[in-house]
Amino acid sequence: MAEADPYLLFGLLGKQVIHPGGRKATEELLGLAALAPGQQVLDIGCGVGTTAIAMAKRFMVAVTAADVSADMLDRAIANVEAAGVRDRVSVEAADICALPYADGHFDRVVAEAVTMFVDRDRAISELVRVCRPGGLVLATEFQWRQPPTPEARHAFLGEVCPGMLFETVDDWLARYSSAGLVDLQVKTGPFEMMTARGFISDEGIGNAIRVMARAITSGAARHRIAWMMPRISRAVPFLGYVLICGRRAGHDS
Ligand SMILES: C[S@@+](CC[C@H](N)C(=O)[O-])C[C@H]1O[C@@H](n2cnc3c(N)ncnc32)[C@H](O)[C@@H]1O
Repeated sequence: MAEADPYLLFGLLGKQVIHPGGRKATEELLGLAALAPGQQVLDIGCGVGTTAIAMAKRFMVAVTAADVSADMLDRAIANVEAAGVRDRVSVEAADICALPYADGHFDRVVAEAVTMFVDRDRAISELVRVCRPGGLVLATEFQWRQPPTPEARHAFLGEVCPGMLFETVDDWLARYSSAGLVDLQVKTGPFEMMTARGFISDEGIGNAIRVMARAITSGAARHRIAWMMPRISRAVPFLGYVLICGRRAGHDS
């Protein structure tokens, strides 16, 4: 925990929603996804499995929930089990930059807050490759809602999430469009995951208290959060999320 980025840290502490737009962005994503029973859906970078479980439960789709982190996969497996959807959610190890799935294998491909951590164009081309022609790719990313001050940019990308990269909505649209997606739809909003209001609305009061209690009783988590929060607060006024939904060009099948 002492070195973890905010997502891994809060995932380890039991937070269920760990992406910039929170539950609101996931509901927007589900609203655009046109999910139907029996569809094959990939949730890559699934974290603790929250969205994968929601898709399987509410829309009766078959979900492959994949992540590169063993810690996240352990929690996803436990959550899938507890939610009683093991028959509809397969939890697997996979790297978004080299997906171990055939071209066109999935009807829907979901990536909530993942490409930003890696080679974005390579990851996006993998999302499009494994989606069938006519299928949908849906991704949530960070974006700068207004140009950050050098201090805010450094605090977030240089210190809190070193290696993460993102720019503006237009930049994301250009990347997804040049990877072969058409009919792009976009939704945007503020970054509220780490604000008190966003935290409670994402987790509910019960889980918010459980997460905070674990944070307070773990010395490593407490120190990490005390270091992280002032830096995140510096960046929050400039940060937002963008949700992009696009269709892979080609015929529906
Ligand atoms: C910000 S969290 C989002 C988790 C989940 N999608 C959610 O919204 O709750 C980013 C996730 O991407 C995963 N990740 C990072 N690099 C990855 C890679 N190369 N391939 C697959 N997953 C990756 C992390 O382990 C983490 O679970």
